[in-house]
Amino acid sequence: MAKTVPGKQKAAKIVNIGNLLKEKRTFTPPPTFTKQAHARTKNIYRTAKSDPVGFWENMASELVWKKKWRQGLDWNPPDAKWFVGGKLNVTESLLDRHITGHTRNKAAIIWEGEPGDKRTITYYELYRQVNKFANVLKNLGIKKGDRVAIYLPMIPELVVAMLACARIGAIHSIVFGGFSPESLRDRINDAHAKMLITADGSFRRGQILPLKHDADIALADCPSVENVIVVKRGDFLLRIKEGRDHWYHRHMQEAESYCKPVYMDSEDPLFILYTSGTTGKPKGIMHTCGGYLTGVYSTFKYVFDIKEDDVYWCTADIGWITGHSYITYGPLANAATQVMYEGAPDWPDQDRFWQIVEDNGVTIFYTAPTAIRSFMKWGRDWPDKHDLSSLRLLGTVGEPINPEAWMWYHEVIGGKRCPIVDTWWQTETGHIMITPLPGVTSTKPGSATRPFPGIETAIVDENGRPTTNGGGYLAVTKPWPGMLRGIWGDRKRFVDTYWSKWPGMYFPGDGAKIDGDKYFWILGRIDDEINISGHRISTMEVESTLVAHPNVTEAAVVGIPHELKGSCLAAFVTLGNHIDINDKLIANLKDFVVRKIGAIARPDRVIFTPDLPKTRSGKIMRRLLRDIAMGKVMGDTTTLADPDVLNRIKKRYEED
Ligand code: WTA
Repeated sequence: MAKTVPGKQKAAKIVNIGNLLKEKRTFTPPPTFTKQAHARTKNIYRTAKSDPVGFWENMASELVWKKKWRQGLDWNPPDAKWFVGGKLNVTESLLDRHITGHTRNKAAIIWEGEPGDKRTITYYELYRQVNKFANVLKNLGIKKGDRVAIYLPMIPELVVAMLACARIGAIHSIVFGGFSPESLRDRINDAHAKMLITADGSFRRGQILPLKHDADIALADCPSVENVIVVKRGDFLLRIKEGRDHWYHRHMQEAESYCKPVYMDSEDPLFILYTSGTTGKPKGIMHTCGGYLTGVYSTFKYVFDIKEDDVYWCTADIGWITGHSYITYGPLANAATQVMYEGAPDWPDQDRFWQIVEDNGVTIFYTAPTAIRSFMKWGRDWPDKHDLSSLRLLGTVGEPINPEAWMWYHEVIGGKRCPIVDTWWQTETGHIMITPLPGVTSTKPGSATRPFPGIETAIVDENGRPTTNGGGYLAVTKPWPGMLRGIWGDRKRFVDTYWSKWPGMYFPGDGAKIDGDKYFWILGRIDDEINISGHRISTMEVESTLVAHPNVTEAAVVGIPHELKGSCLAAFVTLGNHIDINDKLIANLKDFVVRKIGAIARPDRVIFTPDLPKTRSGKIMRRLLRDIAMGKVMGDTTTLADPDVLNRIKKRYEED
């Protein structure tokens, strides 16, 4: 495992970044779309540019505030306060304001379980459930500022749980259900969560995910957790620990149906969400109430052009930021009707998604490029079997989309009539930052186009100066409402990681280029994070896991391109003496990583090597490993302490 300095991005090298893509196709918004859109002209950009803070204040005034703010923005880099002095409870904008008038009985969530069970929950019903569950939390001693960990599958109770926390000012920390018990444990302990909300299990590709069982393993080592609430999803076997574990449905039966909202300062924390970093330890990204809500509300409204009778569907899991912002907070703040699906896209068949679109008349569909590449591989016969004519707008998120996938999405899923919004943003940015506005912006396959109104981004060089050749680092040059306010418990890491590269400008860690039309093309991560199927994995985290295996002495992990996943992991591993190399050991090492982190971190390749290539100062030369793993010709090797090592590694790789 190599040493890294958090935030210094020592290993970062922009490779081939000046190499502008050759994509020339342009798609203008269909006039019929523009005619009905929330944003019809470029005026919105001009208005926002002339007074960005005023623009966001206007957006914020469309939400429910208990007390209006006295100042739009207080910017003291790297600390921003938005809507200073304002007081609100976010659930009032998501629920209370929708339970009078025509939205009262409107479907908020049309949920479908993987086995085919269905539930439709209206705004009024969701409001009641959130209120009740907020009372359950209160009765179990949860107060404003307490952290509540949530480890749930994609069931409506997940939305209820997060909003119940928000109702009483507790800070939720959701851990994706695919993470291992150890990952769950580390996140619970980092945040000192007082409670865990989980389920007996969940369905995935017909299999059962034993969430409570995994949670029990984690909880053996989580002293801060006093109570555990268990949602009953199926009839899964589990152990109940008397005194600590509580059934969700039992408590809900007894709970009072109204819970007075706790009014929060605009800058009070709303949630923590952990994401990978360039070191082994995940970062607890902190978001606050007023700014975050304003950001997700307005981007959802304009980017997805949401209308009264739309049926929106985001296929992400709420365990990631996409689900937080564009399943829970953004859509509900806009009184949208949305589909929520529990399971896998290829269960029972590879047309499950298209069946769901057809059955529910989905009009807006938001997914990841990696999913689109899988659909392409499965073939167009699957979508062609279904009536997808209800769709009017498509979106992508999570990784760069290759133009071929964009074109396939446009033609096969969108029937050539739906605009595509390729949205760039991050866990840290809270909401969409670079995106087309579907009724205004012409799109180019592979480009996320322009910053959202009120957002300013640039492509700069190492020193923060705008680049002349179009390629460089992406930077956000002005504060924005949904920006992260910190890393839980680690001020220094927050400053080092995002704000130390250039004074006053945010460093997202992505390489990008800008073309003659001022369109942004995001090229991907330039640090030691790898984007696998749209999920961020730290190579350091996988390395430190591998070196914890008793047979491993050293490990270096690099990302290499993968046809479906975008990137995948190749692990170069040095073993202790007298360890036999065989297929079993490879499988064993891969499983070890899955057990310790989760299935998304499984290395695709494990390559054994007697040594790792290092510089004279002992730094592992990842670039060379990446080249070897990709079968490329090796570059300059003169800085190697033992140049022969590379040839040996290369030979072994070719034999593998
Ligand atoms: C990548 C997901 C290109 C990028 C919302 C970023 C993208 C990381 C795009 C954040 C896009 C996200 N085009 N790359 N449209 N959207 N990314 O925190 O590398 O899970 O830094 O947030 O995903 O991933 P995160």
